[in-house]
Amino acid sequence: MFVGYLPNSQMVFTAHKKLSLFLDDIRYTHNSIGFVPTMGALHDGHLALMSKALDENDFLVISIFVNPTQFNNKADLEKYPRLLEQDHKKILAHISKDQFVLYAPAVEDVYGKNATSNKYDFGSLENVMEGAQRPGHFDGVGTILEFLFKVVKPDRAYFGEKDFQQLQIIKELVKILGLDLEIVGCPIHREKSGLAMSSRNGRLSPESFEKAAHIYRTLSESKAYFQDHDIKETIDFVEQKINAIAEFELEYFTIAEEQTLLPASNKEANKKYRAFIVVHLQDVRLIDNIPLY
Ligand code: PAF
Repeated sequence: MFVGYLPNSQMVFTAHKKLSLFLDDIRYTHNSIGFVPTMGALHDGHLALMSKALDENDFLVISIFVNPTQFNNKADLEKYPRLLEQDHKKILAHISKDQFVLYAPAVEDVYGKNATSNKYDFGSLENVMEGAQRPGHFDGVGTILEFLFKVVKPDRAYFGEKDFQQLQIIKELVKILGLDLEIVGCPIHREKSGLAMSSRNGRLSPESFEKAAHIYRTLSESKAYFQDHDIKETIDFVEQKINAIAEFELEYFTIAEEQTLLPASNKEANKKYRAFIVVHLQDVRLIDNIPLY
């Protein structure tokens, strides 16, 4: 990939071998490396992850890579926004250029000629919700993160709780691989309206963007409702609210126990529950979740 047009492009690596050599030097002069892996189209949620990573580490590595193996839908992969120049400017406006490097490879630098996934056993975590709806998705996420973690060798890596299931899977991946790496989950960053920030939000029309705020509103109402209703009643409550909006298509609403992510049907004392939702609006897949405690 040609990146010469980028400002300060000396801090943009496209070859993992060069990045790896550069980071070997960084480790002599810095105590810790924080890592924020992304697929680009950066928003304030990503910038908040970067700030937290820099608060807690001496140096930051950011990756921008639209990972083909985690898309089970080719059209979604093609539509995914690629805004490298704009993303790089956003980072530079947010953090000083001597505090970070950016790794923005082409597919070949990561996968060679054959972009395929490794197979992992994430146990019960991989067969529900996103794992059930998007076959192979988490193997793709595991494959790219195994590659990136082994190149960057960070002390801590930062992920948003919007993809809460992904966050649990990544913690499991680190255990499977036996890596000495802390996975840090960060609260969902929201628009003023409450809509969870996402790189996909940019594809919504202004009317849909406004309408999408109903998703978080409904989740918040479900949290209050859940306190004195059972799981089935709470699910019915949410389904009715979401289905009442003609433009929404509900893919799933699930209440799951927070650690195992297994869908729950009865409330049990001392267990923490979280509600998960996916809604399609104007051909955009919107995902969100909320703790119910
Ligand atoms: O959450 C994402 O943006 C991606 O799934 C990740 C973790 C960067 C892997 O490609």
